[in-house]
Amino acid sequence: MKNFQTISEVRQCVDIWRSRGERIAFVATMGNLHEGHLTLVREAKRCADKVIVSIFVNPTQFGVNEDFSNYPRTETQDCLKLADEGCDAVFLPSVETLYDSEAKTSIQVAEISDYFCGESRRGHFSGVATVVCKLLNIVTPHCALFGLKDFQQFLVIQTLARDLNLPVEILGIPTVREVDGLAMSSRNGYLTPQERDVAPQIYKILQMARNQIINTSTSFTQIQEQSIAILTECGFVVDYFSVVRRDDLMLASRNDNNLIILVAARLGKTRLIDNLWIDK
Ligand code: PAJ
Repeated sequence: MKNFQTISEVRQCVDIWRSRGERIAFVATMGNLHEGHLTLVREAKRCADKVIVSIFVNPTQFGVNEDFSNYPRTETQDCLKLADEGCDAVFLPSVETLYDSEAKTSIQVAEISDYFCGESRRGHFSGVATVVCKLLNIVTPHCALFGLKDFQQFLVIQTLARDLNLPVEILGIPTVREVDGLAMSSRNGYLTPQERDVAPQIYKILQMARNQIINTSTSFTQIQEQSIAILTECGFVVDYFSVVRRDDLMLASRNDNNLIILVAARLGKTRLIDNLWIDK
């Protein structure tokens, strides 16, 4: 597996692959790789000849009181896992390599960045959109794969690729879960053993809410309120639990189709997010 730190090394390698007519898939990560990330890599291998993964803990998507400096950095183990999966190249830029101190440009994806995680994490999606756009411009892949676990992030990236005419196919990959249903996340490692026992309740309550949406006529407002009450009872501090339309994240009513339930809740110091699709 090739290991690149600089933009010019990536460009040179990608030029060679492209000159041979090879299809290139890209997976962007912040490292501390788990089965969720590795599933993206496996899917990437299925849809391309070459797979390149970036590992970059992106400072611009963290708020001032967030976990940028504590975010788990496990690059050596990450590279071993990627090599095992048959990944072709890994890009590990430094902050200085990706961000010029004179940089004046950032990307804002209006509206869908403003709600939910965008409301509680001001500037977060601008940081994500900017770094993903830069990485896509550096790697120039044919396709890029993102997890649907971060559904709002996925929508932001899909929208930016469409609006800026980026010549890349953006693919969404279903959430990979632990056996007890907890969505895999690098942040799960912050949970204490007691919190780890409680954490799978998020998925259970999502499933309960989905059953109520499909099998009863209970209003979405009531379902949301009940779910928040149960989560609070379990010890979560709920940021949001909302039934929304998948295409624009607007609050949904019973007349809408293509729904998704989005949830974010804190357990102790750890902020967890999850979601569940509903096709009705
Ligand atoms: P990170 O949290 O490392 O996630 C990298 C990719 O893995 C994202 O597309 C994310 O949605 C996906 N992923 C994480 N957990 C998953 C799971 N349990 N199942 C399926 N996919 C999962 O998301 C980021 O990094 C950053 O915001 C990034 C896009 C790299 C920009 O900095």
